[in-house]
Amino acid sequence: MQETTSVDQARLAELIERIITDAGAAVAFPLALVGDRLGVFSALAAADGPVTAEQLAGRTGLAERYLREWLLAMAAAGYVTYAGGGDPGPEAKRTARYRLSPEQAEAFTNSDSPGYVAGVFQNLTAATRMVDRITEVFRTGEGISWHEQHDDMFEGTERFFRPSYLANLTSSWIPSLSGIEERLDEGARVADVGCGFGTSTIIMAKAYPNSTFVGLDSHDRSIARARERAAGARVADRVTFRAEGATDLHGTYDLIAFFDCLHDMPDPVAALRAARPALTPGGRVMLVEPMSWDTVEETVGNPLGRLLAGASTFVCLPSGLAGPPAYGLGAQAGPARILQVAEEAGFGDARVALATETNRVFELAP
Ligand SMILES: C[S@@+](CC[C@H](N)C(=O)[O-])C[C@H]1O[C@@H](n2cnc3c(N)ncnc32)[C@H](O)[C@@H]1O
Repeated sequence: MQETTSVDQARLAELIERIITDAGAAVAFPLALVGDRLGVFSALAAADGPVTAEQLAGRTGLAERYLREWLLAMAAAGYVTYAGGGDPGPEAKRTARYRLSPEQAEAFTNSDSPGYVAGVFQNLTAATRMVDRITEVFRTGEGISWHEQHDDMFEGTERFFRPSYLANLTSSWIPSLSGIEERLDEGARVADVGCGFGTSTIIMAKAYPNSTFVGLDSHDRSIARARERAAGARVADRVTFRAEGATDLHGTYDLIAFFDCLHDMPDPVAALRAARPALTPGGRVMLVEPMSWDTVEETVGNPLGRLLAGASTFVCLPSGLAGPPAYGLGAQAGPARILQVAEEAGFGDARVALATETNRVFELAP
């Protein structure tokens, strides 16, 4: 018989309060995405000073009444700053003025800043659109492959990861590997597996002009975007993008990199097994994985663990179950599990080379 337990009213009130805070965040994200898509954050950042909803409507061509409500919601979320002018009374919301603080402008409008976060509005809103499919696969145990996600997932992920790649990839991640930076400076061959829009490939191509790069991804629409990006960045002569799977490496490389994608693969062991013989002598595999921990306590005890475990349930785990042998690592596998996968693939020498606040970099040598 189940033990009878009584409800602690104070704890219940605490839980409800937390749900109200979370509900506010849940509604703020898609609303912020609307502002991001329509250029409202940029218009606020470009304004000479605080603006009313009417002035913002004039600048953007958008409907004043919607902007008025949006500004109120975004100011309540802390994403926009209320700058006064809403004198108490029936007209308060209409006459109120708003602006972006320098930090809000940096985070929502400066795509080259390490603090740029607008991509997360786009990819997490895309993730939650899958709620019906997710409910279904909980029953069937099936996967949902990456290419089945909403289009916003692809672009939002690129926008979300790019600031971290810009800030870390060539300044700390590659230097953390044994002897690889020197080889890239001199002229090396690099494969970027699961490259998505090719952001990481292009950042490396710009930093190492003597090297050549191949980006592979099984999602052909991402590869089409990657080719456009490479042409725009004027590196297309040294960068080739191919719509192929992780095991289709064709050739040998001094560095084979996997950025935020190994855990999404249904067969990460096959991907790494294919990489091992494709390394030149002294070559390395670099795995950049989202931060994860080996214990449940560490994972549930911090805000990043909360975010990543949730995102994993919506996107990474279903992707990792979307084909045989359905490893389903998920984004929260933990470093010990990632090293075990490397060992299973035959790498005799695998280690964590570096950890940042949001990622762990693994170096794999045959
Ligand atoms: C989370 S996204 C990361 C994309 C990119 N590396 C980045 O950092 O922006 C995961 C990527 O892995 C790709 N992918 C998943 N399984 C793959 C496989 N077996 N072979 C090649 N690419 C794969 C997906 O198509 C997707 O583009």
